[in-house]
Amino acid sequence: MTGNQPSDDGPAPTEGLVVVSNREPYSHTYEADADAEEGDDSTEREIQVQRPVGGLTAGLDPVMQAASGTWVAWGDGDADREVADERGRVRVPPEDPAYTLQRVWLSDEEVEDYYYGYSNQVLWPLCHGDVGNITYEPRFWQRYEEVNRRFADAASDCVERDDSEDDGLIWFQDYHFGLAPAIARSQVGDETTIAQFWHIPWPSLESFEVCPQHHQLLEGLLANDLLGFHVDPHCAHFLECVDACIEGAAIDWDEGRVIHDGHETLVRSFPMGVDTDRIERLAGSEGADDFWADFRESRAIAPDATVAVGVDRLDYTKGIPERVRAVEHLLETRPEYRGEFVYVQKASESRSQIPAYRELQREVSETVERVNDRFGTDDWQPIVGVTEMLPAESLYGLYRHADLALVSPVRDGMNLVAKEYVAAQVANDGALVLSEFAGAVEDLGNYAYTINPYATEEFADTIHEAVTDSPTDRKRRMRQLRQLVAAYDLDAWMDDIFGTVTDLRSDRRGAETDAAGRTEQS
Ligand code: G6P
Repeated sequence: MTGNQPSDDGPAPTEGLVVVSNREPYSHTYEADADAEEGDDSTEREIQVQRPVGGLTAGLDPVMQAASGTWVAWGDGDADREVADERGRVRVPPEDPAYTLQRVWLSDEEVEDYYYGYSNQVLWPLCHGDVGNITYEPRFWQRYEEVNRRFADAASDCVERDDSEDDGLIWFQDYHFGLAPAIARSQVGDETTIAQFWHIPWPSLESFEVCPQHHQLLEGLLANDLLGFHVDPHCAHFLECVDACIEGAAIDWDEGRVIHDGHETLVRSFPMGVDTDRIERLAGSEGADDFWADFRESRAIAPDATVAVGVDRLDYTKGIPERVRAVEHLLETRPEYRGEFVYVQKASESRSQIPAYRELQREVSETVERVNDRFGTDDWQPIVGVTEMLPAESLYGLYRHADLALVSPVRDGMNLVAKEYVAAQVANDGALVLSEFAGAVEDLGNYAYTINPYATEEFADTIHEAVTDSPTDRKRRMRQLRQLVAAYDLDAWMDDIFGTVTDLRSDRRGAETDAAGRTEQS
């Protein structure tokens, strides 16, 4: 199992692992009961379990099962409390319990100010370099601090302390926990390794300094032993911010090490991957083919149409209106695409309580409608929207059968859709059109068709190039992409992180032994 083999360097870091994320890996919800009358509590409602479909939560689940650790997360399912014990704990997976999910309960005000407020109206736009979209209220910060403390307390309580030299690993995920590492450090001491993976970009110093609490955030994060970003430029930005804002911090720029207040933090990139084996298996399955056949028929997509796909959360960082404008420009300037080209946009609603997200939803609907009104005919619709949740097999079937993917964020930490699309190309016949501003371009930029999402004309030309390139060239590019994506998949990413933690621990033990030796001699 990933990263969990015992080694000569002491216990594997996954032993006693405590993962902390805002979203939970399993959530319990009441099934909607069509027969129940409103206000009628006489019948017991069925509880269903929502499981991770992909990404980190799905990938970490087997690691947690093998490590029998604890996962700390916000319990946001409406039936979460009913199945948890009085401390908010529930064993998962439900059918074969192997580890503990420690739920943290948040009040409506906490959700409002910590999640919708500081996390998603301050840190999210800030880290994506979109300072114009920042909305700041003092109470957002206050509540972010309080909630970080609650998660840090819960994580510290879960660490199993014994007499061994390495007292477990707390692994924080993402920007929801900018302060929690320092709070946890003050509780668990130095024997526990604390690591964090920041899944979104780290901005330039000029952007970062806009944040009123930039100093506190850096102090919080420097309590980690290991801080991971997807790509090197984000690490470099972080170190530049530390250099400018934290007095007395010593930085080893080559190694990515920061020493501050006697504590050392290693800052390194780990370009997150996807579960290529699973995606390939599902993309090549009969179910995937059946989905595609039904989908094409139900959406009246002609068998010989050229199909492009985009899959996104409805977020202003994803460059969806820019992409639709490029499709519009393509249809406008190259009439041969009319009636022949279909763009399938799968979009999932996200963070709708925030005005900027509602505005984006409106803009996307209006832009799509405009293009469809302008070019659509009785038997052809240029843009097909998909809003329903698709099971993994269907999603990968959609990727597998689409001739190209349009991944055009205006800023993105990595963008795993790009890698999932590549992994699903079991016949090597798709093409990836990828934004220069996605972290994935660092890995895939040489073989993808790269674009600037704002350069509408060039974007449309690149779509044309990807469609009309010779099948040999397209296959050559896709083969290279698939090799890259398979070589550093989700397992490799986790192994890299856990392996780095093991190395950090043995370095630390080595340094302690040296220091003890020096004391004895003196
Ligand atoms: C990004 C973040 C994740 C987050 C996801 C969905 O990928 O890096 O931490 O879970 O968006 O957003 P949501 O706000 O729905 O959790």
